[in-house]
Amino acid sequence: MKKSALRLFQITDSHCYSVDDRPLEWLKDQTVYPNQTLQSVLAALRTNQQPEHAAVIVSGDLVQEETAASYQRCNQILNTFPLPVHVIPGNHDVPELMQANLNGNIRYCEPIQLEGWQIILLDSSETDREEGHLSGQQLADLRQQLGVYPEKHALIFLHHHPVLVNSPWMDSMRLQEAEAFWDVVADFPQVKAVFCGHLHQEFIGSACVGGQVVPVYGTPATCVQLKLHTPTYMLDHIRPAWRDIVLYPDGTVETQVHYLTLPA
Ligand SMILES: [Fe+2]
Repeated sequence: MKKSALRLFQITDSHCYSVDDRPLEWLKDQTVYPNQTLQSVLAALRTNQQPEHAAVIVSGDLVQEETAASYQRCNQILNTFPLPVHVIPGNHDVPELMQANLNGNIRYCEPIQLEGWQIILLDSSETDREEGHLSGQQLADLRQQLGVYPEKHALIFLHHHPVLVNSPWMDSMRLQEAEAFWDVVADFPQVKAVFCGHLHQEFIGSACVGGQVVPVYGTPATCVQLKLHTPTYMLDHIRPAWRDIVLYPDGTVETQVHYLTLPA
């Protein structure tokens, strides 16, 4: 059988509410309805969907208000999309509520096995903490998962960034066990890239481990974007975004962020 490229969509940080007409409360001078921007992004994904697209990955902060009703509305919105939707929690999420209220097309932290590729989704959230954590057991599980398919190329998704982004306030909320995480990745040269959310900004970085450079991609939110390289939190802009990822049989990864054009 002829092998061809595969594709994934990544969306992140939707910060949904239980109702669509509620604006994000932490914006001062702008009015943004996160449920509506998520729906606009999903509509754009449908327009841009190719036969090679295998799944949508939602990398955390699905809701702004951590209630069952918020997840139920998010569940309805995400289930309109005609592909499996794989979700991981962020610092604004409650894993138990996610698991209890997301169903249908939605898979919680479930790895994706594709021809020639393994996609691993990690839960870096911790109750009542803004920063990211991976336990010793999670790191052991990651090692085990990567060890099962040494012949497959691999991608890893987690909410929190595992490298510094040169933004003190944001970096205080990074993955705290980054060194231990990269120690695991260093032993598996099949890991081709790591993708995160959390930043509300596009980011391209890397880690040099195990004699190879592993790219780290931060994906902007479906709601609003924040400035990096600032001493404190500042809004950057309100264009919603998503990421398209192309996976080639030889392990090459191509990826691009797309922004919605807002009506004037
Ligand atoms: Fe977020």
